[in-house]
Amino acid sequence: MRKFKLPSSSYNWLSAVGATIAMISLSMIVFLFVISLFYEEGGSYLGLFMFIVLPVFLVIGLILIPIGMIRKSRMDKKRKTKVIREWPKFDFNDRRTRNATLIFGVGTIFFLFLSAVGSYEAFHYSESVEFCGTICHKVMKPEYVAFQNSSHARVACVECHVGSGADWYMRSKLSGLYQVYAVTMGIYPKPIPTPIRNLRPARETCEECHWPEKFYARQLVMNKHYLPDEENTEWDISLQMKTGPAYSALGLQEGIHWHINPDVKVEYVATDSVQQNLPWVRYTNNKTGEVYVFKDEGNKLSEEELAGLEIREMDCMDCHNRPSHDYQTPFKFVNDAITAGMIPKELPEIKLLAMGILAEEFTTTDSAMQFIDSEIKDYYSANYEDLYNENYELVEQAIAGIQEEFKLNIFPEMKVSWKAYYNNIGHLEFNGCFRCHNDKHSTNEGRVISMDCNLCHSIIAQGVPDTLQIGSIYDELEFVHPNDPDGGWKDGLCFECHWDLY
Ligand code: HEC
Ligand code: HEC
Ligand code: HEC
Ligand code: HEC
Ligand code: HEC
Ligand code: HEC
Repeated sequence: MRKFKLPSSSYNWLSAVGATIAMISLSMIVFLFVISLFYEEGGSYLGLFMFIVLPVFLVIGLILIPIGMIRKSRMDKKRKTKVIREWPKFDFNDRRTRNATLIFGVGTIFFLFLSAVGSYEAFHYSESVEFCGTICHKVMKPEYVAFQNSSHARVACVECHVGSGADWYMRSKLSGLYQVYAVTMGIYPKPIPTPIRNLRPARETCEECHWPEKFYARQLVMNKHYLPDEENTEWDISLQMKTGPAYSALGLQEGIHWHINPDVKVEYVATDSVQQNLPWVRYTNNKTGEVYVFKDEGNKLSEEELAGLEIREMDCMDCHNRPSHDYQTPFKFVNDAITAGMIPKELPEIKLLAMGILAEEFTTTDSAMQFIDSEIKDYYSANYEDLYNENYELVEQAIAGIQEEFKLNIFPEMKVSWKAYYNNIGHLEFNGCFRCHNDKHSTNEGRVISMDCNLCHSIIAQGVPDTLQIGSIYDELEFVHPNDPDGGWKDGLCFECHWDLY
């Protein structure tokens, strides 16, 4: 058999190393690919290697081959004393040239094909929820867990975090590269601060699925609360949320989604980076041309201060800033867990006890789990000995329920919990709507952004189930605060007490 020969320049160690690296990477890619066809799980790391790490080595190997060849032929020429300043000749009568061209030609086509498939896969892969949510496992855990627990669990991270167009694509990949670096070096901040500069969702992203003209009818919200007393007394509140007007024919003319009516422009200025302090608000009616400027009486800005601040137009995210990462407050998740039966209501004082435990600061999830376990056992064995002995399963159920909810909403390793991020949708534990709607933002003529309790919702039932006060959508009730006969709640904004009630 005739020997298969290549140009002499290809016989050098650098090209050989390059070829070896390329061959090994290629066979590993093929191997992993075959494996991934059979095994679903472990996918995220496999993908990382298959589509990103190994191809980098493959390309490095391939680049080394010609570099080695060029170096070799230069060295050969130097040895032959006479300096030849010529391009290499391609003589196809020479079998070695034919072989090299064949390998190069077939190799290139094969490689181009592979890289087309590969980059397509790499693109898809880098856009996948598993890539965003699990590769940086520890770092993104809070966002990922909360996301899976939200109404957007089926919306890919990139649908919200990466806008459309090439510039967004570049921005996301560049900041992604930086993030990989930051995570590898362990220099990422805990918690991840918002607003996230390069990946903050914009109004357009939400509007790909929810367009502003879409009318959302009024909605009934029914909440069950449990008071911090011995019986965990149930306290119900039912509200009709005035998301839209009473009659759908009126569209966005009134109600909560009036802010996103295309005829309406609401702008504001914030004096802090997380937009909690909004001393200046301007409402422009694009149709009639009316303009109202509201200034916070208690926090007036001078002209110079105002000129130095960015005026932002209000959009979906100014209210729905936690559409997919809602780290619920213990106030909410403990009430809900009692309603769902995960924490037994029959256990005396469990509401108060749970809230006290959850108000502690923890450094790890494990220590929190242990603390929940020991505190609850200690409390009931010391204060309710009979119950502890006879109904021990209730105690265990409460422990499991609180632990479960803790893991869904509080992430000590990343310092993430409801305290790390504001949620602007209501007004109980965060200032939310009351940032503007507090009766203190007024125009020179005395028009205010109203805090009327019936502006955004009507309370149609409230109180203890046995003596429930019942109204109707035509006859709304005046708010009654539990255990507050003197109306002390009127002295402050809800969040001033509720932010850390326990
Ligand atoms: C429905 C839209 C949406 C989806 C889907 C979504 N996010 Fe977010 N994300 C947001 C919004 C809105 C913010 C808050 C941005 C701000 O305030 O600047 C945010 C914030 C974040 C933050 C900053 C820290 C924090 O908790 O606020 C991270 C990190 C993040 N998202 C990662 C992810 C990951 C990973 C996924 C997929 C598993 C994902 N997001 C899916 C809308 C979304
Ligand atoms: C890829 C499509 C998609 C995008 C983009 C998207 N959403 Fe959604 N959204 C959904 C779906 C699907 C639901 C669930 C509807 C249901 O369960 O009835 C939903 C539900 C909601 C709800 C109601 C449920 C809740 O959790 O209160 C709100 C509010 C919402 N989205 C806000 C937003 C905001 C704000 C953005 C932009 C950051 C956004 N969405 C981006 C698809 C999307
Ligand atoms: C940036 C300031 C700002 C924030 C934050 C804000 N609003 Fe408003 N809102 C306004 C202004 C300005 C008006 C118009 C006041 C006027 O007509 O004089 C308004 C009007 C309204 C109206 C009456 C619309 C109508 O005419 O029927 C409702 C309802 C409303 N807001 C609900 C909410 C809810 C709910 C939230 C929180 C989720 C909220 N707003 C947060 C500025 C704000
Ligand atoms: C002024 C604050 C505010 C703005 C701005 C706002 N929303 Fe809402 N939205 C609300 C409130 C409050 C609710 C009712 C929530 C509830 O009952 O818990 C709501 C409800 C919703 C729902 C659920 C409706 C249903 O019936 O299930 C969707 C979806 C939604 N908003 C999407 C959007 C989108 C998209 C934008 C931007 C184009 C937007 N919202 C702008 C305050 C706002
Ligand atoms: C600017 C709009 C707005 C105004 C004004 C307003 N609320 Fe609300 N309120 C909301 C929104 C939004 C929610 C959240 C609904 C949800 O949880 O889905 C809410 C929730 C509530 C709840 C239910 C809390 C829970 O967790 O069960 C009560 C009670 C309540 N409001 C009382 C009041 C009282 C009392 C006033 C008058 C001082 C008032 N609200 C004024 C927008 C408003
Ligand atoms: C002066 C402080 C204060 C203010 C202001 C205040 N609250 Fe409360 N709130 C409390 C306390 C304390 C409790 C615990 C009740 C008890 O001791 O039985 C509570 C309990 C509640 C509960 C039910 C208890 C639970 O744990 O689920 C609701 C609902 C509630 N408040 C709503 C509101 C709303 C809405 C506002 C604003 C309109 C408000 N509160 C303003 C102090 C306050």
